[in-house]
Order: sequence, then C-alpha cells, then structure tokens
Amino acid sequence: MTENIHPTVFKINKESRSKALGQRPALIWFTGLSGSGKSTLANGTEQALTKLGFHTYLLDGDNVRTGLCKDLTFTKTDRVENIRRIAEVGSLMVDAGLIVLSAFISPFRSDREMIRSLVGDDSFLEIYVDCPLKVCEQRDVKGLYQKARKGLIKDFTGIDSPYEAPEDPFLTIKSAETPQEEAIQYIVDALVPKLNR
Ligand code: ADX
Repeated sequence: MTENIHPTVFKINKESRSKALGQRPALIWFTGLSGSGKSTLANGTEQALTKLGFHTYLLDGDNVRTGLCKDLTFTKTDRVENIRRIAEVGSLMVDAGLIVLSAFISPFRSDREMIRSLVGDDSFLEIYVDCPLKVCEQRDVKGLYQKARKGLIKDFTGIDSPYEAPEDPFLTIKSAETPQEEAIQYIVDALVPKLNR
C-alpha cells in the first residue's frame, strides 16, 4: 500500500530537535501484567524526569484504548494492532525529540522487538515490571481478574491469554518486593545517563 508513497526528507530532523531540547529522545517501554504497577511507575518516573528538566510524554493502555485504539479488543490480532499503532505514535514522538514513556501490557515478545527495530536499539529502553500473577490478582484494583475468573472477560492476560516476559530488558523491577519510591529512583538513576546529551 506504500508503493507510490515517497517520504520527503525534511531539514529539521530528530538530531536538530534533540539539540534544541537538550536531551536524547527515547521510548521507555514499561511492560508487565495488568495490575503489576506499570502506570504507577511510569507516572512517577515521568514526574521525576520532568523535575529534572526533561521534556516527556506518557502513553498509557487505558488512555489510548479510549481514543486512538477504542475500536480494538483483546484478541491476539487486536493486541498486535494496538501495539503497532502505539509504536508508530511513540516513534513519531521520539522523532519530535521527546522522551516518551509507555505503559502497556504488550504481552508478545515479537511486538516489543518490532518496536525496538522501529525506533532503533539505542532509543528503546524496555522496563519489565515483574510481579507474580498471584499478587496482581490479589490486588485486583479494577476488579478485572475476578471478572476474568468468572468468564465474564475473555482473553485476559495471565488467565486465558499468555504473557511473554522480556529476555533481556534494560531494567527489571520486582514491583511486589520493591517500595515504589525506591523503584522510581532506581529507574531514574539508570535513565538519566542515557537521556542527557
Ligand atoms: S495490551 O495487551 O494490548 O498491551 P493494554 O495495555 O493496551 O493491553 O490494556 C490493558 C488494560 O486494559 C488492562 O490494564 C485492563 O485494565 C484492561 N483490560 C480489559 N480487558 C482486558 C483483557 N482481556 N486483558 C488484559 N487487560 C484488559
């Protein structure tokens, strides 16, 4: 479908925007089960990075799924399409010079590798929010695990849909064992050297 499309090479590019903003753009990708703490950690990390003067944007599962991806369900095909759209948006934002944080279950390894190849290895920082299913289910902040166990929600990650953990993430956070503030500080300390120009 892109056969007759010829993108223009513009004069203002990622490098010039990165220079203007004084930072190295990146896509910081939080992945993990529903209820593992991705959004909370991404939110805290974004706040800390903003305080340090970085220019950021946060893409989050529940937000994107009420807009850009509201036509998508949780079947494998739709999840792949969900991540494809987010990857494209994230990639444009990285091109705009921003530090983009994202919080999506993104259960499939192949999708996350697709994002890495789209934004580039240097700009893709994968953070695995590792929390046992048992703990996520006990927390059940949104009451969704209970619904899934009763069969009221289909294709629920960890119940009747798989989650493939990253094999070599930039960072792993054991969110059930690590106090939130400590985890955020650890993430920020690891990120800052990567984001400074
Ligand atoms: S992803 O698998 O496509 O990456 P995404 O992160 O966008 O998922 O959305 C996950 C959120 O949608 C969960 O935190 C939960 O609140 C909600 N949700 C609703 N149905 C499901 C389901 N079947 N599986 C997982 N999450 C679901």
